[in-house]
Amino acid sequence: MTTSSTSVRKRSQEWYERAQRFLMEGVNSPSRGSAVFHPGPVVLERGQGSQVWDLDGNQYTDFMMSFGALIQGHAHPKLVSVVSETMAEGSHFAAATSAEAEAAERFCQMVPSAEVVRFANTGSEATMLALRLARAHTGRTKFLKFEGHYHGWYDPFLLNAHSHPPQDLGSKDEPARIPDSEGIPATTFDDVVLAPWNDVSALESVMRRHGRELAAVITEPIMANMGCIPPREGYLQRLRELTKAYEVLLIFDEVVTGFRYAPGGCQQYYGIKADLSTFGKALGAGFPVGAVAGPRSILDRMRWGQNMVLHYGTFNGHRLTMKVIAANLDLLSATDAYPKLHDIGNTAIAGLREVFRRRKIPAIVQGFGPMFQIYFTEREAIHDYRDYCAYVDTARYSRFVQLLLERAIYMTPSNGLHWILSTAHTQADIENLLQAADQASAELA
Ligand SMILES: Cc1ncc(COP(=O)(O)O)c(C=O)c1O
Repeated sequence: MTTSSTSVRKRSQEWYERAQRFLMEGVNSPSRGSAVFHPGPVVLERGQGSQVWDLDGNQYTDFMMSFGALIQGHAHPKLVSVVSETMAEGSHFAAATSAEAEAAERFCQMVPSAEVVRFANTGSEATMLALRLARAHTGRTKFLKFEGHYHGWYDPFLLNAHSHPPQDLGSKDEPARIPDSEGIPATTFDDVVLAPWNDVSALESVMRRHGRELAAVITEPIMANMGCIPPREGYLQRLRELTKAYEVLLIFDEVVTGFRYAPGGCQQYYGIKADLSTFGKALGAGFPVGAVAGPRSILDRMRWGQNMVLHYGTFNGHRLTMKVIAANLDLLSATDAYPKLHDIGNTAIAGLREVFRRRKIPAIVQGFGPMFQIYFTEREAIHDYRDYCAYVDTARYSRFVQLLLERAIYMTPSNGLHWILSTAHTQADIENLLQAADQASAELA
């Protein structure tokens, strides 16, 4: 098999210039534009299964999969027919529908900690609601977030979600607090306790100091916004014990990991029951959705009345999306989706490790199964935000991905994201990836 050249992207460049005349930054989220793509993004026009085509007609195998949303690949035939049938009947009523109940039933059958669920439109909305619920339920206002974890763009979560030079990070006991955005009042962060992740003694220490005042600890179960960083053995279990001991709600942010590692997400994979969990991305199979799930005793606080937790939204429970979710969850339950996702991902990981070994490139491939990341580093593992900031050559990764983009592999050059497999990927896709990676490594070395 030979990899085709996708280096001519003239129309992409022209279109990107045109887009910038009226569309802010030429894209609707910075990570899609020149913040990470140099000289500019590949403008995508069409997708089918694991493949995408750009404006110049170049074909790529997609390993970004809409930042993880496309668990069934592009334009899955079942989902295409659900969408067209549903559209013909009316896409959304903002009224009670059978579609939302059917989606919720399937959701709660799959996610172990979900007695009930509430749907929103994005992962950011879900984490915002989870925090509001936790504060109402506990009567406490502070919460703990970990360095390098991203939970969406709601104000209080935007602390140390971006990487920074290691000398700017402060000590593990007193991490420097670095907002990710202008326009957020400094007082917003008065309620945020910031701690390093994946370090049991740092966790015990911060919980001793702050445990009694926290409404919640929010964590990504696998850290997915500094690439792909699995928890150390026993870390999540200890986090669960400590949050229980201090009567703090544990929020698992499964926006990335949900419906990806197991039918019930990482909480099922690692056997941990969070108090609240948030979902998005793979749940909607390409349609915008967020969800908060947990026990009735907590979610009941949203019930209409005095002292309720408010959650509104014109597009909540969007009928088209709910139909897609029900069909997506049926597909994920009925097929051998998870063994396949794990197998194919592990094949890609092993193959890439072999390429770097053969080419004598100091790089590791971290993660397992459906999600992983490549780090150009001399280290044997990247365990947290501080390792990522200190030891990962992100510029080299960006060059590597640019070389892959010229060899029919579509991926974001941002090292903070991760490689994603969908049920549409095949062994042939992995062979193409490995061949392209081998060529790119030869040029990189
Ligand atoms: C762990 C995590 N939580 C929440 C979000 C926010 O989701 P959304 O982009 O749908 O608002 C993201 C987005 O990447 C995420 O990675």
